[in-house]
Amino acid sequence: MFVMYNKNYLNEKVKVNIDILDETDSTNEEAKRRIKDGVREDFVLVARKQTAGKGRKGRSFYSPKDTGIYLTFTHFTNDSPENVLKATVATSVIAAKTIKDTLNIDCGIKWVNDLYHNGKKVSGTLCEYIFKDIYENDKNAVIVGIGINLSTEDFPEEISDKAGSLVADNKDNSVYDDIVIGIANGLKTFFESCDLNSYLPLYKELSIVLGKEVELSDASGVLDNGTVIDFNDNGAIILETKNGEKKTFDSGEISLFMI
Ligand code: BTN
Repeated sequence: MFVMYNKNYLNEKVKVNIDILDETDSTNEEAKRRIKDGVREDFVLVARKQTAGKGRKGRSFYSPKDTGIYLTFTHFTNDSPENVLKATVATSVIAAKTIKDTLNIDCGIKWVNDLYHNGKKVSGTLCEYIFKDIYENDKNAVIVGIGINLSTEDFPEEISDKAGSLVADNKDNSVYDDIVIGIANGLKTFFESCDLNSYLPLYKELSIVLGKEVELSDASGVLDNGTVIDFNDNGAIILETKNGEKKTFDSGEISLFMI
């Protein structure tokens, strides 16, 4: 039988419970079902295919079989929801570093969480925070869902000019295991302290927006324009506006005036 993920190898190398699914709607949604069903220890889900992969802002994430990494790390915590932004920023660094270590491919990071390669988006992260009251749990849950287009082709028309893949053709299935190991263990380490300071230097180095003029918007419209001058210790973005004012934002979506 064709094996995409080596379950024994993964369980040996990943220091968190890990489950491999042939197919699911969304690994984030499956994680929520498992919390509802009573799972209370941190766990990782990986799917070979998602039929309803979710992106940020209600978008979908194209997830055809065996062409990408579709992974959700669920962490139980009593920390505040502010750690969701930190987890999103840390995930970008962990994913970029893992891609470099496994495939020797460089990615740039677009705040907050998008990875770019050759001018196209190749990865995104959807972090969700589940309050304990919803599931009668004694801890809240941070759900970190990451999607990486490894060799995905034929993207839906509406994203075909923006989305890309890391490799044209993946000949080595073991890279899937190695990427999952790098990301799962990387997130486990991050959640031990939730301290972003050791991630920020690489985040800044790989940033494709630092020093650039950008427009920041959210669902209600444009929030502000300015030059990105820094990211703070929580991963929030700091803009300097035309009149020299410095403003910090912890959410929003960036459009670059020039890449
Ligand atoms: C984005 O780019 O807007 C975020 C994409 C996140 C996709 C991943 S794939 C694994 C996990 N399950 C989902 O349904 N979404 C995330």
